Amino acid sequence: MSLIDRINPKRLPAHVAIIMDGNGRWAISRELERVEGHKEGVASIRKVMEAARKLGIPYLTLYAFSTENWDRPAEEVNSLMDLMVHAIAEETEELKKNHVKVHCIGDIDRLPDYARTALDKCIRETASCTKFNMIIALSYSSKWELTQATRQIVREVINGELRESDIDEETVTSRLTTRGIPNPDLLIRTGGELRISNFMLWQCAYSEFYFTDTYWPDFGEEDFYKAILEFQGRERRYGKTSEQLVPDLLSSDAVTDDDLSATLN
Ligand code: IPE
Ligand code: IPE
Ligand code: MG
Repeated sequence: MSLIDRINPKRLPAHVAIIMDGNGRWAISRELERVEGHKEGVASIRKVMEAARKLGIPYLTLYAFSTENWDRPAEEVNSLMDLMVHAIAEETEELKKNHVKVHCIGDIDRLPDYARTALDKCIRETASCTKFNMIIALSYSSKWELTQATRQIVREVINGELRESDIDEETVTSRLTTRGIPNPDLLIRTGGELRISNFMLWQCAYSEFYFTDTYWPDFGEEDFYKAILEFQGRERRYGKTSEQLVPDLLSSDAVTDDDLSATLN
């Protein structure tokens, strides 16, 4: 039986997020320049997006460039920007054809003008697409995002638009760049590192983590299915005991972790 046939279509994650790591080491191991690894990584994005669409997973987030990545050598940063601009320009028509809505989270004001313009165009042109959501985390870090949200909440309190006593988890959630997007059910990190590298610290509070040594350029459709299968074998307890879990709800379609924890309460 092939991997895809073993996947239970009723227990799919609604949102898969991926820390796409290992491009540089993939290239170095082949005695290539690091940028060659980044180029090859674009092909993996296509494969994984296709796999997610095929399964009917509605949200896919790709961690493409972190706040900390700005500290890499200028040459590598520039190559990454060029690569991104080319990939976006090349793919926009295909994305529209496949009804993919592109979102971007991160501090895009830091991007060079030409990169921000290309990204804005793609976001604008795919804005009415509804079948699949691709979220690109670019110039993103979770601490940056939480700091922005904190500032906004303080501003609203000072302006009298929000009462301190009304602040709850939803107040924070709705001021993050991910507002309107369900929390990741599954977080995949390729490249062998066992860390989260400043990614969605709030949103991944109850995500299932899947780590693989496979470098991102080697990660393809089958690897994605393997991660989904492992996810489907996990029991998500949200602090409760196994006995408290509701079997019917666990096997229902596209249940988000928020739905599940609300129902279990
Ligand atoms: C991930 O690959 C891509 C980015 C962070 C932009 P890396 O470039 O981090 O690859 P390694 O970890 O050095 O192999
Ligand atoms: C995390 O990878 C960021 C992205 C994949 C975009 P890094 O390679 O930058 O992470 P660290 O430095 O190893 O934690
Ligand atoms: Mg890395």
